[in-house]
Amino acid sequence: MSKVQIEHLFKRYENADEDTLKDVNLEINDKEFVSIIGPSGCGKSTLLRCFAGLEKITRGKILIDGERFDTIPPQKRRIAMVFQDYALYPHMTVYNNMAFNLKLSKFSKEEIDNKVKKAAAKLGLSEFLKRKPAQLSGGQRQRVALGRAMVRDPKIFLMDEPLSNLDAKLRVSTRQDIIEMHRQLGTVTIYVTHDQAEAMAMSDKILLMRDGIVQQYGSPDQLYDQPHNLFVARFIGSPSMNILHGTLNPKGDFSVGKTKFDLKGIIAPELLPTSSRKVVLGFRPEKVAQVTFTNQVEETVKHEKDFVFTARKNLSEYMGSHTLVYLKMDDGTNIVVETAKKINDEKSPRSLQIHVHSQDIYFFDEKTGLNLSSI
Ligand SMILES: Nc1ncnc2c1ncn2[C@@H]1O[C@H](COP(=O)(O)OP(=O)(O)OP(=O)(O)O)[C@@H](O)[C@H]1O
Ligand SMILES: [Mg+2]
Repeated sequence: MSKVQIEHLFKRYENADEDTLKDVNLEINDKEFVSIIGPSGCGKSTLLRCFAGLEKITRGKILIDGERFDTIPPQKRRIAMVFQDYALYPHMTVYNNMAFNLKLSKFSKEEIDNKVKKAAAKLGLSEFLKRKPAQLSGGQRQRVALGRAMVRDPKIFLMDEPLSNLDAKLRVSTRQDIIEMHRQLGTVTIYVTHDQAEAMAMSDKILLMRDGIVQQYGSPDQLYDQPHNLFVARFIGSPSMNILHGTLNPKGDFSVGKTKFDLKGIIAPELLPTSSRKVVLGFRPEKVAQVTFTNQVEETVKHEKDFVFTARKNLSEYMGSHTLVYLKMDDGTNIVVETAKKINDEKSPRSLQIHVHSQDIYFFDEKTGLNLSSI
């Protein structure tokens, strides 16, 4: 059992004039896989290093199964860390790299042999045990680093961008190795990445940070479907959520530049403001219900609760399974939509009509960025 709690954690580096981590709160249940994501410099590695005891926390607590963890010396924390650069010993064989820490901990020869061979078999490394790191591919080296962490039978795995040195294909297969390893061992894993797609694919829960402040903590579904604010909405999903800046009045008219949209029936009545207010309307490129050329309007089936607008097509990118269409609205707002249609840029008309169902439309406060449905 390992239930992790982080309570009101603050971290300020020496000589820094600001806290790097600001009031981080987090609860991780036994066996969970949690990803920490956010832009560069937001404090992901700092949080992991605080957990490992490589950095001292300034305020707050870390608890495991209700007991203080942050006061335990780093070498006694029973955690295993995997880094981006593998950090393997180049002069040692794969076997000895994996056995090194066990030898230091004075395990018997038989126990070491057993653990190393078992981990190597799980990670598909059995045939490479006599090789040195330089004779392995990047993905195989990263698997050795995982194996070295695995043999220590840690209470918690900490991984800091372990896949970022690998090419796109290897990232996907090594990511599957990590998921498989987690499934077999059931060890709580905290995984740092800046790749939101990786976090979505791998995690039970995602912690999204910005400038040392937690923006949202929840399941991938929760962050995708119910983002707390515009930052979360735009960080999760690729391409990013489309946004229109405008003014919403109490009757449900939404003005974007000179264009006015009637959103009665689209916006939930409780979200209508008592006086005109600046809001941001958002919708995801992949949640567009319909894309039609304006000279084919007769084909369109207008859903009563659709948000409908026309825009000029700049460019389209055919991706095989779908096409991404880049558009510009009259007020200059750039939009991207995903459609299953194949669009020929030269032959097709430039004006497109876009339909989005009301349940796929989000509203955020312009000033605070908060999702109006979650206020
Ligand atoms: N030893 C240190 N002393 C002072 N400031 C530091 C130290 N280490 C990191 N920082 C600062 O703390 C902030 C968070 O750094 P951190 O390495 O945690 O970011 P990150 O989210 O892991 O970024 P990246 O995605 O680039 O790895 C940054 O502004 C960084 O400059
Ligand atoms: Mg980092």
